[in-house]
Amino acid sequence: MIRMIRATASMVLIILMATAAAAETPVERGRYLVEAVLACGNCHSPRTPPEMTIIPGKELSGGRSVDTPAFKVTPGNITQDKKTGIGDWTADELKAFLRLGVRPNGVPIAPAIACQSDQGANTLRSRRCCCVLVDSAGDRKRS
Ligand code: HEC
Repeated sequence: MIRMIRATASMVLIILMATAAAAETPVERGRYLVEAVLACGNCHSPRTPPEMTIIPGKELSGGRSVDTPAFKVTPGNITQDKKTGIGDWTADELKAFLRLGVRPNGVPIAPAIACQSDQGANTLRSRRCCCVLVDSAGDRKRS
């Protein structure tokens, strides 16, 4: 009898955990992936020296340029700001960019960075969630 109660309790627990996971919205999933797993803001958020902390309220609005003899790249503003960000991109264009590394205007991302576009965002669900989060990131101006 105790065994049956234990088995039932375990099943209930498993069902509850599965329900909790399913209750996560695409935006919540996207936030988790963008902030904790893929860390898009590591490159795409502006920072203040000397501590180099991300400027609050400016997350994802564009990061520091990396200038080397081999290449120079600047992580763009990936918020919805229409002038300095990617507010004109459709969700499908952003999804295609994350998969293929090519912007809607046909310009490919710099080879040194290209792996980033597919490395972490390698499942359809991840890509969709990133897009949702980037869509919901508001329209911060590049500082
Ligand atoms: C290692 C640093 C780094 C990380 C992490 C990173 N990016 Fe980038 N990203 C860049 C750089 C640098 C560029 C510009 C490359 C170039 O000049 O071709 C860029 C370009 C882009 C662009 C094109 C912007 C434009 O204005 O043309 C988008 C969109 C983008 N990244 C989205 C993302 C998303 C979403 C994530 C997280 C899944 C992410 N990036 C993670 C460095 C990074």
